[in-house]
Amino acid sequence: MVLVGRVSHVDPDELVRWAEAQAAALLSGMGDRWRHVQAVAARAREAGRILDDDDQAVLLAAAWLHDIGYTPSLAITGFHPLDGARYVRMLGQERIAGLVAHHSAAHVEAELRGLRTELAEFPDEGSETTAALAYCDMLTGPTGETIALEQRIADVARRYGPEHVVPRSLRLAQPELARSLAIVDSSLRQLDRA
Ligand SMILES: [Fe+2]
Repeated sequence: MVLVGRVSHVDPDELVRWAEAQAAALLSGMGDRWRHVQAVAARAREAGRILDDDDQAVLLAAAWLHDIGYTPSLAITGFHPLDGARYVRMLGQERIAGLVAHHSAAHVEAELRGLRTELAEFPDEGSETTAALAYCDMLTGPTGETIALEQRIADVARRYGPEHVVPRSLRLAQPELARSLAIVDSSLRQLDRA
């Protein structure tokens, strides 16, 4: 594994650069996973305009890091939001760890996997930043393409098999995810009208 360090500063631009470097170090050899993450980050750059400057940087950093738990060397439990969040917490970025832990309604999959207590190690801020991260992740397909929520869930079912815990969780989470997407979509439209 590439050696990656802690970050103690809170300068927004540096935070984003640090997160991107972490993601590149751990995911850039992972083909489609890396293409997906790069596209989620690009979308976060655009959708982040609904947030204030500090939250924009936090969203972008979380977008870079949200799937870091898929890195084989970090995959301890096999539940990527938890594995990723524990790593980010170890590096000292507590808020981003919470966003990674709870990204895209991860609590539903935690429940099905019997990992609810473990996921509760991390607070769920349930904020507009949380919704924006779900928006960016759910509207970005496995190779970085733009995709609708329904297609995204269907694609996951195709890749994992329909009865796998991941597509089952996403189907259960679909109403909650749709609400998050609608909130962000409406904020973006409001900004476009202004
Ligand atoms: Fe993702």
